[in-house]
Amino acid sequence: MKHKIIFGTGNAHKLEELREITRIFTGDTNFIEFTTPEPPFDPIENGSTFEENSLIKAQAVKPQNGYYILADDSGLCVEALDGRPGLYSARYAPSQDEKISKLLTEMHGNQNRRAKFVCAMTLLNDKGEILFKTTGECQGKIALSRAGTNGFGFDPVFIPDEKQNEEIKTLAQMPSDIKNQISHRANALKKIITFIQNN
Ligand code: IMP
Repeated sequence: MKHKIIFGTGNAHKLEELREITRIFTGDTNFIEFTTPEPPFDPIENGSTFEENSLIKAQAVKPQNGYYILADDSGLCVEALDGRPGLYSARYAPSQDEKISKLLTEMHGNQNRRAKFVCAMTLLNDKGEILFKTTGECQGKIALSRAGTNGFGFDPVFIPDEKQNEEIKTLAQMPSDIKNQISHRANALKKIITFIQNN
């Protein structure tokens, strides 16, 4: 592998997404080897922004010679809910199914369905020093009901503006390689990869 990254997450879906985004964006299956810290990896996310929480997660990873450290913090910001659940997306309800039910209930009867996913990423060097910070977004709207089984989190109720096929509406109805070209995580990771390519 040309580059090695320890990705500070306990979320296997995110790890798989980073691998696929990197494959798609670089066209090179050997560009980055991603590993994750020993579980449990559960730092206290008490920052007041996505950027601060991604730095907290990155700094919770033990530096290792020859490895970059990367962490992300992400969430769903709904316009009609004044940006909620936002930073608290992971803690909005106990299970993902309950989170979606709660969101659909809160949005019931609401005409303004605009929402966006946000992903902040922080890249550290192998001494734990900050190299680069960036964010990515994915604009869209909240569906009236669930559709699709791919992906994770709020994917079954998020309809991105950018889509290749009008039949496919939610992120969870898309094949992973389409989500991984247009998602907030893809838009952030592309900038991280460009930074690594240029440095
Ligand atoms: P965190 O970034 O691990 O703190 O978690 C953010 C939360 O936002 C997740 O638990 C999901 O509920 C939601 N989320 C973040 N990214 C996505 C995504 O790509 N699809 C669906 N839900 C997401």
